[in-house]
Order: sequence, then C-alpha cells, then structure tokens
Amino acid sequence: MQHKMSLLRNKETETKKFRELVSEIGTMLMIEATTDLPTVETFVETPMGMAKCNRLSERIGLVPILRAGLGMVDGALQMLPHCEVWHIGLYRDEKTLRPVEYYNKLPNKATVQVCIVLDPMLATGGSASATIDILKRWGAERIKYVGIIGAPEGVARLQKDHPDVQIYLGALDEKLNDIGYIVPGLGDAGDRQFGTG
Ligand code: PRP
Ligand code: URA
Repeated sequence: MQHKMSLLRNKETETKKFRELVSEIGTMLMIEATTDLPTVETFVETPMGMAKCNRLSERIGLVPILRAGLGMVDGALQMLPHCEVWHIGLYRDEKTLRPVEYYNKLPNKATVQVCIVLDPMLATGGSASATIDILKRWGAERIKYVGIIGAPEGVARLQKDHPDVQIYLGALDEKLNDIGYIVPGLGDAGDRQFGTG
C-alpha cells in the first residue's frame, strides 16, 4: 500500500497508471473497511464433508462521489462484487470551497444496511459531509467513508459533523494549502484520473 501510494503521489505518474493505482489502493482500503461487517454462520458441503463458514449478513451499497470517486468503484467491486452502486455528483466551488450537488442517483428508499462512501480526497471535508447528509436524509442506517488521502481539517470536520461514521484513509497528510488542496497530497484526483485540467 505504501509503495503504491508513493507512485500515486508522484507528479510524473501518467493517467493510465494513476487510474490503476487508485483502483488497487481502493481494493486494499476496502479490505480494512469491511473487516467488521456482520456475518452469519452457515454450513457448506465441500467434496470432503461439512464446513462451518460465515457469510455477509447485510447488504452493502457503494456510493462514489463524482468524479474522482468513480476510480475507486472497480477496486471496491473486486472485494464486494454484489454491491449496489449509487452515484452522487458534487463539485467544489473554487472560491467558497463549498460542495455543489449536481447529480443524485439514489433509489427512492434505502435498500441496504451499510453504505460505503468512496472518494479519494478528504480535503475540507465538505463534499464527504454533504454526501453523508444526503445519505442520512435518504435513510441510510450505517455509513463508512473510504478515502485515499485526508487532511487533518477534513477528518476533524467529518468527525464533528458525523461522529457515527467510520473513516478509512490510506494516508493522513500535513495540511490544506490556501486554495484548499491537500499538502503534499497528489494534486487534483479527478484531473489526474481523467486527463483533464
Ligand atoms: C475533489 C475530491 C472530493 C473533493 C474533496 O472533487 O474528489 O470530492 O474535491 O474536497 P473537500 O473535502 O474540500 O470537499 P472535486 O470537487 O475537485 O470534483 P471532481 O472529483 O469532479 O474533480
Ligand atoms: N481535491 C483534490 O482532488 N485534491 C485535493 O488536494 C483537494 C481536493
């Protein structure tokens, strides 16, 4: 994971490799984020006899925040191929740094017990917090946040606004700069994945 983070942060890493790394790191983080999901005991017939096993007992929804969260979906689905995936579109207003919602593809009512929000960057925390507000209003029961790099300001904001939400990050960086970018971070995660900017 640390090795992959060093490649991801490198400004010389090209778009294709960057996308692959986001996906691979996303899978690794999902392993950590799913260790406490409840399971139910079940017996399975093997060719040699009966085995006591465990199966997931709750349904899980992945909620990528557009755009940058999209890159974590495939990696997360490697871990949990039967998840439902719902998209929330937010962008940060460049001046105010506040999130602006432009897309919401949640079903009419909550159909899962656990929602896992995916977004590589937790900067001011505004986008993550707003997404979780939307999910709570919609009826989500349990919510986890999985991100690749966070700033202390973003973690503090998320913990204050949503103390019930577990946060999983690949790295906690030093600070935000005066235009709201994580330092040292990796730059703009959306632009680097999609070759824009
Ligand atoms: C980035 C990132 C987060 C947000 C984090 O998205 O993917 O969603 O910024 O910043 P915050 O914690 O201060 O809200 P951006 O708004 O750049 O949109 P994009 O993913 O479409 O590039
Ligand atoms: N969004 C990004 O993509 N990068 C940052 O450093 C902060 C917000």
